[in-house]
Amino acid sequence: MAMVCLTDFENYAKEHLSKAAWDYYAGGADEGCTRDDNLLAYKRIRLRPRILRDVSVSDTRTTVQGTQINFPIGIAPSAFQCLAWHEGEVATARATESLNTCYITSTYSTCSVEEIVAAAPDGYRWFQLYVYRDRKLTEQIVHRVEALGYKALVLTVDVPYTGKRRNNLRNQFKLPPHLKIKNLDGVSQETAGMDEYGILVNTLDPSISWKDVNWLKSITRLPVIIKGVLTKEDAELAVEHGVQGIIVSNHGGRQLDGCLASIDALPEIVDTVQGRIEVYLDGGIRTGSDVLKSLALGAKCVFIGRPAVWGLAYKGEEGVKEVLQILNDEFRLSMALSGCRNVAEINRNLIQFSKL
Ligand SMILES: Cc1cc2nc3c(=O)[nH]c(=O)nc-3n(C[C@H](O)[C@H](O)[C@H](O)COP(=O)(O)O)c2cc1C
Repeated sequence: MAMVCLTDFENYAKEHLSKAAWDYYAGGADEGCTRDDNLLAYKRIRLRPRILRDVSVSDTRTTVQGTQINFPIGIAPSAFQCLAWHEGEVATARATESLNTCYITSTYSTCSVEEIVAAAPDGYRWFQLYVYRDRKLTEQIVHRVEALGYKALVLTVDVPYTGKRRNNLRNQFKLPPHLKIKNLDGVSQETAGMDEYGILVNTLDPSISWKDVNWLKSITRLPVIIKGVLTKEDAELAVEHGVQGIIVSNHGGRQLDGCLASIDALPEIVDTVQGRIEVYLDGGIRTGSDVLKSLALGAKCVFIGRPAVWGLAYKGEEGVKEVLQILNDEFRLSMALSGCRNVAEINRNLIQFSKL
């Protein structure tokens, strides 16, 4: 059967992955309200298309942190990709390299950053970082990815503790013994042990605060992007602390259940930031019109989490490419049908605010 939209990949993954792996990828925290609202929020937004604007030629290229990418859709960091496909992150890296878009590598990758870079040496990549209790370990990882040519650090700030994901608890989810969190080879994973989410116990530091952002900036020359901002107050603090970007995100609804959908958080953050730094978004992007709506509300680029994993589960590198290509084709079509020839023409006039 031809794959025509991202839901087709979701259905395939649900059928073919083990129950524990499917539940791990699909899960949200608690009742999954925020995970579901990330998608539903897009359905509440209506577009105001313009007509007769000669859309015979269209251009989806944009820039992030000064680098040109072919379309404003990148890959969000998601852990344990070898559970979905044997080559895991290496396949994702190759797919994003060949389509020239941004791939954010998760700290919790099941391939090492060295393997990822070797597999796709020309890819444009950012590295997602947690601040560990062991600051030396954090520092080592930062210097390792700098040396490998990663172009930015994405500091995830919404996991002081891991959200309660019920199915992982029910399944007593663990990373299978043949897989390792290869980027944390300095930590003895056998002795540290993993919690029911596959996270190494006692490694993440719940005491992190803005002073750690300052510290991170002091040990790296890479741009620092904060992932997990949902309010204008924190967006302002992020700008004041000199970070170079924000990812508006609720971790795909996997952390605080009941918090707002990413797209609903975006407008106040964009209004506060006023173009001083770039604002990106992830959470619930499943169609090209979701991408269009995000850009219309001020996101410079969006990132997909679960859909990339579905692509991997379908056909590895080829599957991730298909997911990205289908989403970009849909985005290009939505742009044309709303009278936009390039991303610079996408703005808030496309949104019907009275319905929000
Ligand atoms: C299975 C899975 C693993 C994830 N692992 C990480 C991670 O290691 N680091 C991180 O910052 N975010 C992680 N996330 C959150 C994603 O980066 C992203 O915020 C979220 O998936 C976006 O929502 P979407 O799945 O609806 O596209 C993970 C998400 C999923 C679904």
